[in-house]
Order: sequence, then C-alpha cells, then structure tokens
Amino acid sequence: MTRPLIVAIDGPAAAGKGTLARRLAAELGLPYLDTGLLYRAVGRRVLDREGDPKDAAMAEAEARALHPADLDRADLRSAEAAMAASGVAAVPGVRAALLAFQRSFGQARGAVLDGRDIGTVVFPEAPVKFFVTASPEARARRRWLEQQAGGGTATLAEVEADVRRRDDQDAHRSVAPMLPAADAMLLDTTALDADAAFAAALAQLRARLG
Ligand code: CDP
Repeated sequence: MTRPLIVAIDGPAAAGKGTLARRLAAELGLPYLDTGLLYRAVGRRVLDREGDPKDAAMAEAEARALHPADLDRADLRSAEAAMAASGVAAVPGVRAALLAFQRSFGQARGAVLDGRDIGTVVFPEAPVKFFVTASPEARARRRWLEQQAGGGTATLAEVEADVRRRDDQDAHRSVAPMLPAADAMLLDTTALDADAAFAAALAQLRARLG
C-alpha cells in the first residue's frame, strides 16, 4: 500500500508559501492546510481575553479550546494577529495541542501543508519538502502591497520591521524553530513571481518523485 503524499512547505513570513501551496495542492489533487491559521486563531483567542500571547498557561488553554469556527474569523490576517501567533507559537504546550490535528489532516488523504515546522516536526518523513525564502525587503514589500490592497495604513518600513521581528522570534525559539529540514529543496522567490515560483517548484517536485 502506498502512503498518501505529503508535501511540506516551510519558510519565513510572506515568502509566498501560501500561494505556492494552494497551487501545488490544486495541481496534485490534494487537500491544503495553512497551519499558520491555527496559530493565528489561538493568538486571537488570547487577545480576546486581553491576555499576553506568551503567557504559556493561557495560550495552551486557548489552543486546547480551539474550535473549527475560530478558523473562519475575518481578523486572522492582521499584523496584530501575526505577532500574537508568533507569541503563542513559542509555547510548547500550544504546539503539542495542535500537532494531532495537523497529522490527522495529512494522514487521511495526503496533503500540502505550509508553516514553519512541517518538514522538521509535523511530517519529518514527508517525501517532498520545500523551504521557501526571499529577501526580507522583497517579503516586506509583498506583505505591504497585500495590506494596502486591504485598506491597511502601515508604512513599508513598519511592515518590514514586523516581518523581521517575527522571523527572528520564529527562528530563535527553543521549540520547533523555523529551519530548513536537511532534505528540503530550497526555493528563493526574491526574483520570481507566483507563476515562476510554481513552475520551479513543480519541476523540483517531479525530479524528486521521479
Ligand atoms: O503568512 P505568514 O507567513 O506571514 O504567517 P503564517 O504562516 O500565517 O504564520 C503566523 C505565525 O504562526 C508564524 O510567524 C509562526 O510563529 C507561527 N507558525 C508556526 O510556528 N508554525 C507553523 N507550522 C505555522 C505558523
């Protein structure tokens, strides 16, 4: 019996993981899970209680109480939710609480999952892993353009400072830090648009799977 295919996509903020993951999932006929949304939803729940995302007891309690409807909230994409996500994501109990859901999502029919620790912790045995990066300036510009399109008022410099602060926090936490798996294929999208990144990833994936 062949195992369902898992494609793991990790990398820093606004590197183009989500767009790439969605397109690969459609191409391969696999379900897609944006794992960042889980952490954003836990962060939001803590903010709703006027708590500190780094308060381990509160963050873990909110992760354990997470409800599917929390993932449909309209306020998960803001910069505030992103920073709260990065705060709760450093709490070991939060990561443990979200692990089983991510694994069972993938094990059912295979999946494309994007996040920070998919290839290292959630599915270390995934046959296809990408670590998607781009320069901090390029990533900040993309996030700023997204925010502008949504009516955001933050300056490019503010968005870049947020992106750098979050990357630093994600890369230096003690549990499941963001880092490329040893067998991950690196994809630098600094000079690639979404179509070119998709084409490059698909070529790498086909080479890997033979
Ligand atoms: O979309 P963007 O890349 O900016 O962020 P995201 O993927 O929605 O993730 C938000 C935050 O959740 C990250 O900064 C990480 O701190 C955390 N996260 C994580 O720790 N592990 C994951 N598998 C996914 C997200």
